[in-house]
Amino acid sequence: MKDKFQEIIKKATIDIENVQSFHELNNLKSRFTGKKSEIKDFMKYLSSMTPEERPAFGKMVNDTLEEIGKLLEEAEQRLQENDYEKTIKSSQFDYTMPGRPVLRGGKHPLTLVQEQIEDVMISMGFQVAEGFDIEDDYHNFDALNTPKDHPSRNLADTFYVVKNHDEDLLLRTHTSPAQIRVMEKYKPPIKIISPGRAYRNDKFDPTHSPVFHQCEGLVVDEGISFKDLRDTIDILLKKMFGKGCKSRFRPHFFPFTEPSAEVDVSCFNCAGKGCSTCKNSGWIELFGAGMVHPNVFDMVGIDSEKYTGFAFGCGIDRIAMLKFHIPDIRMLFENDIRFLQQFTFSR
Ligand code: PHE
Repeated sequence: MKDKFQEIIKKATIDIENVQSFHELNNLKSRFTGKKSEIKDFMKYLSSMTPEERPAFGKMVNDTLEEIGKLLEEAEQRLQENDYEKTIKSSQFDYTMPGRPVLRGGKHPLTLVQEQIEDVMISMGFQVAEGFDIEDDYHNFDALNTPKDHPSRNLADTFYVVKNHDEDLLLRTHTSPAQIRVMEKYKPPIKIISPGRAYRNDKFDPTHSPVFHQCEGLVVDEGISFKDLRDTIDILLKKMFGKGCKSRFRPHFFPFTEPSAEVDVSCFNCAGKGCSTCKNSGWIELFGAGMVHPNVFDMVGIDSEKYTGFAFGCGIDRIAMLKFHIPDIRMLFENDIRFLQQFTFSR
């Protein structure tokens, strides 16, 4: 009986060694180890054996199956290796060809500016607070001391999502409602910036876009003065545009600050001499700012006798345009890869 098994192994070894394809290999697999194989067929002899003979016989069957299994596995591996080599050899791969460039994603110029503002302000102890793009008119206007008949509430200027309702919903026209949200939630001392999108019903032109980006700043504590506002904006501007840059505060009006100012920066292109960037004035308007109006404190329940605060808002798109000499705001929204590629490494 042992000889019979040896003979099968011998036969299998020769056949398996000569196998050329996976198809042939599969056929051999079922021929030598499948249900109807010669070896499995031997099991029928088991019934005619004595109990003493059976284990030795069973072991012989298993050993044979195992040995043939090993041969089949080796053959399979060999076929796989051949296959791989054949593919490599037959492919017309030119190893001397230069590789395709791997395009690295870059940050959008608006992101670069926003991150720079955040870095500077965080280094001065500010925290970043997120506002909402869709606001109610209470937070966008009323709580910011904006009169009911203020022109900015006009349908022609503001995008309303829900109008003529108990509570009007709109796309915020500035980032200032974030101030209110923060003051409603937290007690002074407060020191936050809130960057984000704002929306106004403006037609696209080289300097206007119906969606644009602002960064709001708010500080509330005991004894905050206009000088703190000036110093803070001065540090931010110097970090953004270089040590030599100067700032200038001009009186202005905002319903939610008193006194209010517009802040100009000395033109970093011509250092104040006059050029096309600053329209020959030597100055560029960048910020709206002022001391938080007591009425605003009343709306959010902060004691205006005890606390004072300042707020400011700047246009991120405008800063990006000036910093990177971008002549048209629309370029910031078109996502033309040729335009965006230029900012990949500029930080
Ligand atoms: N929200 C004002 C604007 O959009 C800017 C501003 C912010 C002014 C904070 C004063 C204080 O023009």
